[in-house]
Amino acid sequence: MNTTFPLQDKTILVTGGTGSFGKCFIKKALTEHNPRKVIVFSRDELKQWEMRQSGGVFDHEKIRYFLGDVRDKERLLRAFRDVDLVVHAAALKQVPAAEYNPTEFVKTNIHGAMNVVDAAIERGVEKVIALSTDKAANPINLYGATKLCSDKLFVSGNAYVGQRGVPKFSVVRYGNVLGSRGSIVPRWREMVAAGAKELSITDPRMTRFWITLPHAVDFVIANFGRMLGGEIYVPKIPSMKILDLAEAIAPGLKTNPIGIRPGEKLHELMIGEDDARHSLEFDDCYAIAPEAVASRRMASYDRLRGIGGRVLPDGFTYMSDTNTQWLDVAGLRGLLAGIGMDGQPIPVVAGATR
Ligand SMILES: NC(=O)c1ccc[n+]([C@@H]2O[C@H](COP(=O)([O-])OP(=O)(O)OC[C@H]3O[C@@H](n4cnc5c(N)ncnc54)[C@H](OP(=O)(O)O)[C@@H]3O)[C@@H](O)[C@H]2O)c1
Repeated sequence: MNTTFPLQDKTILVTGGTGSFGKCFIKKALTEHNPRKVIVFSRDELKQWEMRQSGGVFDHEKIRYFLGDVRDKERLLRAFRDVDLVVHAAALKQVPAAEYNPTEFVKTNIHGAMNVVDAAIERGVEKVIALSTDKAANPINLYGATKLCSDKLFVSGNAYVGQRGVPKFSVVRYGNVLGSRGSIVPRWREMVAAGAKELSITDPRMTRFWITLPHAVDFVIANFGRMLGGEIYVPKIPSMKILDLAEAIAPGLKTNPIGIRPGEKLHELMIGEDDARHSLEFDDCYAIAPEAVASRRMASYDRLRGIGGRVLPDGFTYMSDTNTQWLDVAGLRGLLAGIGMDGQPIPVVAGATR
């Protein structure tokens, strides 16, 4: 594997390829990494049609659009034929919807993960990265709980690999994506555009981790290069105060605290103290090693130390309120200027000034 350009000449399948992450990943893969082919796997034909119609890179000769549901293993088996790398981004992800429709979240996020693991093993895919969220660390809502189950399925999937030692399964866990579909940023921007006199915020003390889509995509691509199989990679990303976000989007506008909603935490956790005991630090990230190492080929704490992982201090936690990296109002404003209403980066036109 070419660790600098791990997608070079590879056939890559992205479950959830029409989503916020999927689109940004596919654009970067095709413009910067020269893969052999990219397959979009998702359910809704309209989203696929609109993506192709949007033209440019999404109508590239190397893209295939494949309709399918991760709940349907037969369809995944068909789609994974001759695929080298899989990014598993398909998920249901709205916290309140999970509480009201728990069985749907179990079917997509847990059964879907099982099917992706099984199909990847049966088809001999080389590497699979599944996306996870900070809400999966010590979860308090059903969405987070289903993503924790998914993480565990991918980590333990490494115990069932064949003689060739493939696939390798790893997980990438990150925090809120700045501006992603259905998130607070597009909602507040719409309210401000509609002339809102105040912004409702849950709790003025609230903090969150933030990552941009391009950063999340680059991080996933880098991990295809270094993954051993079984580790959960957590990027080092900044935190921000929800009040600062409101100020960045609507300077001077009054905020109205409405209280934390069911299933929300005041501060998000990425690595809890118990996971930190078997985690290691790298320059750009942390890696949680699997506790039970069920295969010789699987990442272990010692193997991760062997590739430069540094031991974490006793009692370490990676939490949004005690984070050492912060985004202030000016920093947030700068980042938001480059993000469209759909969370995708706004293309910079050569010679243009903003
Ligand atoms: N956005 C965030 O803030 C954030 C933060 C941390 C982690 N994550 C994780 O990142 C991943 C991608 O999130 P995103 O923001 O890109 O989500 P998104 O924009 O909502 O996209 C979800 C994608 O999954 C597809 N999908 C949903 N159910 C499916 C199913 N049963 N079978 C096949 N495809 C299905 C959707 O297309 P169809 O509806 O057409 O099937 C869509 O392409 C998720 O795993 C999420 O948990 C997101």
